[in-house]
Amino acid sequence: MRVGLAMSAFFEALGARVSRHHHAQPGAPNSFQADLGQAEECHSLVAEVVRERGPLSMLIHNASIFSATPIESCRPKDWDRFLKINLASTRALTDAFLVQLTGPGALLFVIDSFVEHGLPHHAPYATAKTAQLGLMEALVKEHGPRLRVNAVSPGLILFPPDYSAVKKQRLINKVPLGMGAPQDICEAAKFLLANRYCNGICLPVNGGL
Ligand SMILES: NC(=O)c1ccc[n+]([C@@H]2O[C@H](COP(=O)([O-])OP(=O)(O)OC[C@H]3O[C@@H](n4cnc5c(N)ncnc54)[C@H](OP(=O)(O)O)[C@@H]3O)[C@@H](O)[C@H]2O)c1
Repeated sequence: MRVGLAMSAFFEALGARVSRHHHAQPGAPNSFQADLGQAEECHSLVAEVVRERGPLSMLIHNASIFSATPIESCRPKDWDRFLKINLASTRALTDAFLVQLTGPGALLFVIDSFVEHGLPHHAPYATAKTAQLGLMEALVKEHGPRLRVNAVSPGLILFPPDYSAVKKQRLINKVPLGMGAPQDICEAAKFLLANRYCNGICLPVNGGL
């Protein structure tokens, strides 16, 4: 189970009324389809969830695309796709979330500790994740006190399906505590979403990367 699905199951088990989003892979209950690369779909997604499930008070920006894109071969259309799905969607979803927010709200960005330590061959991914932190800081200053915004920054949690055994081991060897698990991200997310005085924090959960 990948991180997004694990977080939704974790919060549901705690009693939260969770609405999920899916793109290509349906399956989980209370899940709404959208291509987050299309700004209008981000807005209609939030509107549909609110119509069917009631107002939202928390939103986790988890969805992203991740693949190797060496800067010299990264075409403008690849760059744009990463920036749309991994960055512009977080702005569009946040806009739509704020419009329907009636009481106190909380947002959580899911960043990436590898980006914070320098991630070669993934420039558009890294650019988008880094910019999410800039958006977080701006939202913190512009929308307090009704909105709190924090981020969790995972390290090595799950491998992409195409990684070789050698590549996996090389990455594991870089991290003092080895691999983490989705549960580690869930517990950090719970803390950041629940703590009333945490605002503007990016919490690394990375085993000491
Ligand atoms: N896995 C790790 O070790 C790790 C490490 C550091 C950071 N992170 C971050 O943690 C988060 C979760 O990562 P994960 O690896 O576990 O993957 P995940 O939870 O499966 O999240 C990726 C999701 O993004 C969705 N998505 C992709 N393109 C989309 C689009 N155009 N519109 C809407 N949704 C789209 C995918 O849906 P479809 O498959 O249906 O397209 C998938 O459900 C990500 O933000 C990632 O950057 C993960």
